[in-house]
Amino acid sequence: MSPRRAAAVLVLVAVVAGCTREQWHRFPSPDDLVAAVPWFSVMHRGIAIQPYKMPLQPVEGAVPITGREVVPAAVPQHQAQLDRLVNPVQVTAESLERGRDRYEIYCSVCHGAEGLGDGLVAPSLANAVRNLTDDRVVRSSDGWVYGVITNGFGALMPEYGGRITPADKWHIVNYMRTLGGTAR
Ligand code: HEC
Repeated sequence: MSPRRAAAVLVLVAVVAGCTREQWHRFPSPDDLVAAVPWFSVMHRGIAIQPYKMPLQPVEGAVPITGREVVPAAVPQHQAQLDRLVNPVQVTAESLERGRDRYEIYCSVCHGAEGLGDGLVAPSLANAVRNLTDDRVVRSSDGWVYGVITNGFGALMPEYGGRITPADKWHIVNYMRTLGGTAR
């Protein structure tokens, strides 16, 4: 490259680099240049789906704009509120089957297959795991148990709110009621 050419390129670079944002926009974009060629303009002006033009289905696991399910913690001051929750899942063979399946995955390690509080890890929890056929549990409302599953209980029972869907939690409640022949 001759020195004159090099100088010209340098000046051009300096001019372009010194452009303000507004001035930049006066340069045709590569896209516009390509579109000036008739063959390419077809692509340029083709039917494009504009953002927000079509409603898209929310992706799986999306949080509704109304927020997540809010379930109060299973503590005495919220008992009345939990008791008012209505179990929307009818006790059917399908519900009990699904409940048994989920119970065995999530609950039996601690509460035991029969709900007697004698699961595999109960000894390492100082045998403080509740027997689910206890009077206290049998008499508690479905809503209360739903709250226990959702938010955990005491210091030792973990919360399952984010891991078990609302429907499955009710299936588990339904199934739990059959443990030890305690169905009400
Ligand atoms: C890591 C062990 C563990 C797992 C898993 C577990 N629990 Fe518990 N659960 C406990 C312990 C420990 C207690 C007693 C806590 C206390 O009394 O402080 C308890 C208490 C309860 C109670 C009694 C609450 C009350 O009012 O006294 C219910 C009902 C219950 N669990 C249901 C379930 C269900 C349903 C599942 C499965 C979704 C489950 N638990 C999973 C450890 C566990």
